[in-house]
Amino acid sequence: METKLVLVIVVVLAVGAAAEYVRPPPRKTIHFPWDPKPTSYPQQVHISLAGDKHMRITWVTSDKHSPSVVEYGTSSKNYTSRAEGESTSYSYLLYTSGKIHHTVIGPLEDNKLYFYRCGREGPEFQLKTPPSQFPVMLAVAGDLGQTGWTKSTLDHIDQCKYDLHLLPGDLAYADYIQHRWDTFGELVQPLASSRPWMVTQGNHEKENIPFFEDRFVSYNSRWKMPYEESKSSSNLYYSFDVAGIHAIMLGSYTDYDESSDQYNWLKADLSKVDREKTPWLLVLFHVPWYNSNYAHQGEGDDMMAAMEPLLHAAGVDVVFAGHVHAYERSVRVFNGKPDPCGAVHITIGDGGNKEGLAHKYLDPHPEWSVFREASFGHGELKIVNSTHALWSWHRNDDDEPVRSDQIWITSLFGSGCLAEKGHELREMLMQP
Ligand SMILES: *[C@@H]1O[C@H](CO)[C@@H](O)[C@H](O)[C@H]1NC(C)=O
Ligand SMILES: *[C@@H]1O[C@H](CO)[C@@H](O)[C@H](O)[C@H]1NC(C)=O
Repeated sequence: METKLVLVIVVVLAVGAAAEYVRPPPRKTIHFPWDPKPTSYPQQVHISLAGDKHMRITWVTSDKHSPSVVEYGTSSKNYTSRAEGESTSYSYLLYTSGKIHHTVIGPLEDNKLYFYRCGREGPEFQLKTPPSQFPVMLAVAGDLGQTGWTKSTLDHIDQCKYDLHLLPGDLAYADYIQHRWDTFGELVQPLASSRPWMVTQGNHEKENIPFFEDRFVSYNSRWKMPYEESKSSSNLYYSFDVAGIHAIMLGSYTDYDESSDQYNWLKADLSKVDREKTPWLLVLFHVPWYNSNYAHQGEGDDMMAAMEPLLHAAGVDVVFAGHVHAYERSVRVFNGKPDPCGAVHITIGDGGNKEGLAHKYLDPHPEWSVFREASFGHGELKIVNSTHALWSWHRNDDDEPVRSDQIWITSLFGSGCLAEKGHELREMLMQP
């Protein structure tokens, strides 16, 4: 009996090892059939945090006279509040955008379901505000695009009970073709209209044409983030607080040297962080600093040289980046070496874009790299309390979310690192 059982186990293990994972190929860009709607009908609805207890609702109408009004309340079709916002639009070569509405609503209660309607027209939407305390669940996926794999990633994110989506750059892969921004807006609306999507920009958002088009015109017009609320002068870098987390969103494609606006804003922002209130400190940007993939090797070096000492002194817990179409996780690291007071760096640029995966890795792997794999997927960061968070990465395997990497991350708040760093940070913040 016992021998039989052992035999069965041996056979199962052998079959498991033989059935090697076959990496799926890229999928085609999704086809969006032409679907005419009334011109005042709200489209591409997405929401983002806009300062304490406020949410920004963004949508697009073809009708230039449609009002930037949001009606909302805590029961369906019973709108007890309304807010009026602002609107913008842009032209890009021969394309003219619809009217892009940005309306901030609030104050809202934490962890509560709201029903809302945009521009007094169209369907009712629902949103849930994040909790004010732990636990809080963050979904993370970068380099999304709009292919069959994007759809698979979004379906899996939809299944996890998340409070907020973090996107470290490369959204639509519009790449100068402006109507692709519109189709991307429609694709993500079911998720992005119900939970805040906090994004930063990647190279595919740049879309500059020398002498003709400025950088980030479409991105800045459509994905307005709370930069004014966080005292930044640019939509390309900002910060926000949510449930005991301070999250900083940086720009890899704007100036970052010590004399830059971004660097000075970052210093000012870090000087206000109170770890008693926000024990977790997260940072996102597009181009990874710790990357052992051949793709984009070394591209983050200059930004890292300029900013890593400051982030290290501040005691950042986790850094999320995109750009490389694969998944990689480091140990806590600083200055190229494992360091218990450094940050965990996670590259998660595998949301599902049309360019496919980045398969080739440096060999042997660097000491700091503990998990790397080229597959599409998404991450989930469940922060359970001020010291513990469960991180997991889910691979889009055969259309099922397969949990492939999982680890408990403990915050620096609970360690001796912050006390040691306090002095170092104060010195850096005081430098003119
Ligand atoms: C609408 O909501 C308000 C405030 O919550 C409540 O007092 C009122 O009874 C509701 N009206 C209907 C028709 O449900
Ligand atoms: C935080 O959560 C972890 C994991 O569940 C647990 O072991 C730890 O005791 C918790 N700490 C506090 C202060 O509640």
